[in-house]
Amino acid sequence: MSRITVVAIGAGDRMNAYTEYARLHPEELEIVAVVEPNPLRLEQYAAAFGIPAAQAFPSWEECLQRPRMADAVFLCTPDPLHYRPALAALEKGYHILLEKPIAQSWEQCNEIAARAAECGLIVGVCHVLRYHPYYRKIKTVLESGVLGEVISVCHRIEIGTERMAHSFVRGLWRKESESNPIILSKACHDLDLIVWLTGRKCCSMDSYGSLKWFRACNAPAGSALRCIDGCTVEPECPYSAVELYGRQKRWLRHFDIGEGAALETVIRKELKEGPYGRCVYRCDNDVADNQVVAMSLEGDITVDFSLNGFTREGARRTRIAGSHGELFGDEKQLTVAPFRKEPEVYDFSDTYGECNFHGGADLHIVADFLKAVREGRSAHFPVRIEEALESHRIAFEIEKKRKAYDIF
Ligand SMILES: NC(=O)c1ccc[n+]([C@@H]2O[C@H](COP(=O)([O-])OP(=O)(O)OC[C@H]3O[C@@H](n4cnc5c(N)ncnc54)[C@H](O)[C@@H]3O)[C@@H](O)[C@H]2O)c1
Repeated sequence: MSRITVVAIGAGDRMNAYTEYARLHPEELEIVAVVEPNPLRLEQYAAAFGIPAAQAFPSWEECLQRPRMADAVFLCTPDPLHYRPALAALEKGYHILLEKPIAQSWEQCNEIAARAAECGLIVGVCHVLRYHPYYRKIKTVLESGVLGEVISVCHRIEIGTERMAHSFVRGLWRKESESNPIILSKACHDLDLIVWLTGRKCCSMDSYGSLKWFRACNAPAGSALRCIDGCTVEPECPYSAVELYGRQKRWLRHFDIGEGAALETVIRKELKEGPYGRCVYRCDNDVADNQVVAMSLEGDITVDFSLNGFTREGARRTRIAGSHGELFGDEKQLTVAPFRKEPEVYDFSDTYGECNFHGGADLHIVADFLKAVREGRSAHFPVRIEEALESHRIAFEIEKKRKAYDIF
């Protein structure tokens, strides 16, 4: 089996997950260069993968100006930095494993897909949940016909207060201009799942939602700009940064902790001056914190879909009604219940959440991408960009509908 060489662009959380594959299967994947503007991450990543200094770049422009140095790039930069590097990589002849969302507008998404087709290059979009054992099981059940014809899908993302505050209020996905609307940044996976599981495209949709809670007008009396700035409600605030990072030590993966650095010092600095120390009511966030969507798919399948950030735990819950049975699950457990048979319950708790690389999905998607590159064709590759466009089209359309109603 020939080894595929890759340039890693954006050496953050996701890149580290995907390129774990190179550690596990060095005979299949070699990371030959890295691009990362954060000097600490650049150094750590280059050291971890034995990348020489001449192949470690602080900017993608500099790297992609050079003659092609690998078979493919893994592109795991923040959302607004997908479009231009993707086009530049295609111009140089690289195949791409591209993090979702593809880009920040429908036009940009199409442009990348069209350019990839013109160049005869493979672009895989990281809809990792298609590779998750739980969703694969749902797909197999639906394809078996045991539930009859799919009538309706009910799908809900419960983001959980921790993730909501960390990612969509204080963090990287809080602002549409710097990332995307939440329906794209968080839910394009879910829209993709709905399309993939049913095998149907969306014909029409409507949506309501808003940034209802995380705004200055809801800041409680006694709160401060930062949780450590003498906020008197911090001890009972469900969104306290002091509690989340300082006491619980959770969600620290977006903090840079240098070798030998004292964790407490890094956290204290972040609480004092970093984005994650801000009061949730006084951030510069603008993405919705709750949204509902109704859709009609080809074949008269109806979908009700919603997301909201106000749950204790994070979860995705799905119920699919078929003409001869139903299934329902929460990613930990799946119940398959044909109407004239005993229900069967499948346990997925050991693959739940982001533990274990999304239940192994992060590594399976890499394996499949490498196979497509090795064979020089992507027909069998389920997350090629042509397949991923539909979820993005739906998300952009949904957001237009939501915004038309969200006029207050
Ligand atoms: N598929 C999934 O399940 C999933 C989950 C989370 C995030 N994502 C997506 O993955 C992407 C990365 O998210 P993340 O959580 O890894 O974020 P991250 O911040 O951990 O990693 C992004 C990295 O890109 C680097 N970067 C910034 N500007 C750059 C530039 N000009 N050139 C090269 N690198 C640059 C950052 O310094 C950072 O190290 C985002 O688009 C995000 O929406 C996908």
